[in-house]
Amino acid sequence: ARRVVVLISGNGSNLQALIDAQSYGELGGEIVAVISNKADAYGLQRARDAGIDAVVLPHIEYDSREAFDGALIKVIERHEPDLIVLAGFMRILTPMFVHRFHGRLLNIHPSLLPDYQGLNTHARALADGCTEHGVSVHFVTEELDGGPVVMQAVLKLCEGDTEESIIDRIHAREHLIYPIAVRWFLEGRLQLGPKGPVLDGMPLPPQGMR
Ligand code: GAR
Repeated sequence: ARRVVVLISGNGSNLQALIDAQSYGELGGEIVAVISNKADAYGLQRARDAGIDAVVLPHIEYDSREAFDGALIKVIERHEPDLIVLAGFMRILTPMFVHRFHGRLLNIHPSLLPDYQGLNTHARALADGCTEHGVSVHFVTEELDGGPVVMQAVLKLCEGDTEESIIDRIHAREHLIYPIAVRWFLEGRLQLGPKGPVLDGMPLPPQGMR
């Protein structure tokens, strides 16, 4: 089976969606390890409950980003993954890390990229009076939240929407699309080509599949 390592920092609801997909035979591979930079991440418990190796690598124990990422690379490579999945992993990765796993590193980001890179995406989209918001799965490149988009799910915003009123709908969309993108990759249908992501031999548009 194709091997997946998932990196988390927190609740791990996206990790749970991937675990659930795996249990239904719909992931196209096996999650062989979950790594968290935070010891209290609830996602670690989700991993253990599913019988998955759960590793804590506290970034605070390292002097620099380079040192942390070097240690992270070692832990990841021990598990010989085909794919590394960032699922609420709230650390900026060094170019060294990103290059090491080029073409096999996916992230999910809570906006319709390239809009609202970075943090507090929902608050900013609402403050701007957007009518459309959503989530993106993308390949990770050196540019923070700037890598090529594989898939997006759109959320219509209505007047009076708040962060609280949209957060469940946002998460539902994440949990829907992330397992699909991971499966495409693991089944060999999705690659990062020299000009961008390719699905079933066809270049994806800038917004990815919607
Ligand atoms: C998700 O909404 C994900 O899009 C976001 O963190 C949340 C993690 O939730 N990721 C980022 O903001 C990346 N910069 P989860 O731990 O329940 O999966």
